[in-house]
Amino acid sequence: MRRRPWRRSFFSHLVLILFFLPLVLFLCHSLLWVAFLGADAVPRVKRSAELPLRFRSDGSFKILQVADMHYGNGLVTRCRDVLPSESSRCTDVNSTVFLKRMIEAERPDLIAFTGDNIFGASATDAAESLFKVFRPAMESRIPWAAILGNHDQESTMPRVELMSFISLMDYSVAQVNPSGFLVDGYGNYDIKVHGAWDSGLANTSVLNLYFLDSGDRAMVGGRRTYGWIKDSQLTWLRAVSEDLQRSSNLQQSRYPAPSLSFFHIPIPEVRELWFKGFVGQFQEAIACSSVNSGVLQTLVSMGDVKAVFIGHDHLNDFCGNLDGIWFCYGGGFGYHGYGKPSWRRRARVVLAQLGKGKGTWMGVEVIKTWKRLDDDKLTKIDEQVLWRRDPWEGQ
Ligand SMILES: *[C@@H]1O[C@H](CO)[C@@H](O)[C@H](O)[C@H]1NC(C)=O
Ligand SMILES: *[C@@H]1O[C@H](CO)[C@@H](O)[C@H](O)[C@H]1NC(C)=O
Repeated sequence: MRRRPWRRSFFSHLVLILFFLPLVLFLCHSLLWVAFLGADAVPRVKRSAELPLRFRSDGSFKILQVADMHYGNGLVTRCRDVLPSESSRCTDVNSTVFLKRMIEAERPDLIAFTGDNIFGASATDAAESLFKVFRPAMESRIPWAAILGNHDQESTMPRVELMSFISLMDYSVAQVNPSGFLVDGYGNYDIKVHGAWDSGLANTSVLNLYFLDSGDRAMVGGRRTYGWIKDSQLTWLRAVSEDLQRSSNLQQSRYPAPSLSFFHIPIPEVRELWFKGFVGQFQEAIACSSVNSGVLQTLVSMGDVKAVFIGHDHLNDFCGNLDGIWFCYGGGFGYHGYGKPSWRRRARVVLAQLGKGKGTWMGVEVIKTWKRLDDDKLTKIDEQVLWRRDPWEGQ
């Protein structure tokens, strides 16, 4: 039977439309992307931080820890757990403003985002939320690092994509994983901080920073629990630490480099601090994994890690010492994360200071920490020394 011509042209048009529709949608999406996010969102060459990181010529290196930003979609995402009088004018933008104020007040040398950077359940487009949450860091041109929490992957990107996206953002020093090592998770990397330019340690790492992926959730024995740091990660960490300690011994035996570590989910032993003592506030049960993979024993046996910075439990902001290593919470930073009305959102600062030698800087002598509250004055609280080099060491 001969087809009527209108019918043929109808079907051929339909085929054409179906063929080109995805392309048209893709172009529209890209145009919207550019319109809403600006030129920053267009793929192009990354603006990189200058590496290696190094101490300033005044002998200091300062890290701003940002725990649990919990970013959603920005202006339309409401704050949680603020006073009723504050709730009408409070959005994700308040978290951004707080971050900008912290950067301005402290002028850190590195910003460390310790997970739950975006709250996947509220973020409708992971890429857009990543751009929004890290924008103040990128605009400040201060090197920044990030690891993942248990919520980041709940939006539109799996963990591996999130970490590779983060590693490609301006001034990010984050990495997906070490090369040449098979490790569990995404976001396991170390960052070396060299001595000041004009010192004898300009080409030596005097402070090492270990970032680890503590995972998200898992089923263990039929029960839901949080993720944990796996054997493969600890094996890698031990190897990195041995390497760094060996090279630092070769260069300056009197000043072995101390290290700091950053991950999201606390280890089970942090619970013991309730009895052992702490500086700051312990207002919430420790939400850790039911699996104890021996992180504390590993860190203790490595010998170089002096403090660990964690997040996850927004209402805890304390530091406590376990077997000679400080475990410090950042305290909830973001307004879309749960919190407590009238308990200000907060951030932690870590300062490492080099010792003075004869006319030059030596290795790290002291590591201090404090926090600032998001109030009118960015009130500084709970300043404490985490570690001081034993003056007799190496003599
Ligand atoms: C959030 O920001 C708005 C606008 O600047 C401000 O009026 C409000 O007090 C802030 N809310 C909180 C809880 O800081
Ligand atoms: C560090 O390396 C640079 C470049 O290789 C060199 O010029 C400088 O003298 C070195 N400084 C020290 C203290 O070793």
